[in-house]
Amino acid sequence: MTQRTLVLLKPDAVERGLVGAILARYEAKGLGIAAMDLRVIDGDFSDRHYAEHLEQPFYPGLRTFITSGPLVALVVEGERAVEAVRALNGATDGIKAAPGTVRGDHSTSGSRNLVHASDSPESAAREIALWFPALDPTPGR
Ligand code: TYD
Ligand code: MG
Repeated sequence: MTQRTLVLLKPDAVERGLVGAILARYEAKGLGIAAMDLRVIDGDFSDRHYAEHLEQPFYPGLRTFITSGPLVALVVEGERAVEAVRALNGATDGIKAAPGTVRGDHSTSGSRNLVHASDSPESAAREIALWFPALDPTPGR
């Protein structure tokens, strides 16, 4: 089942020069890139992306972090891409994330954790429409 999913290489990934290394993991897995853009987002856009987290105590810090500098937004495509990218990224907390994952290998933080990926096909459709409105969320189009 080919899917598309929305991925962010967050400002810490860009700042630390890890963009190429992270993209290489997705490509090595056999996933493809359907869209990609370096951009800086403002607080309003963060609120739309993280709509489900607006009331969480960690959200103000997350909002400051995600708007702090350039990030790379991309749409990753491939077999069960939603689940595949979440598995490659690892658990939210870099300490708990398994070695071999992006977060497990490169982060000691539960907030500056390098990457975002949609958590379900429904989230992917919403997030792709937000970040890349001209792109069809369905693969191959
Ligand atoms: P969440 O959607 O729970 O994690 P994931 O990115 O793995 O889907 O949370 C979104 C982001 O919010 C997470 O990547 C980092 C940040 N965050 C914190 O800063 N503190 C926290 O306690 C949690 C749960 C998340
Ligand atoms: Mg999430």
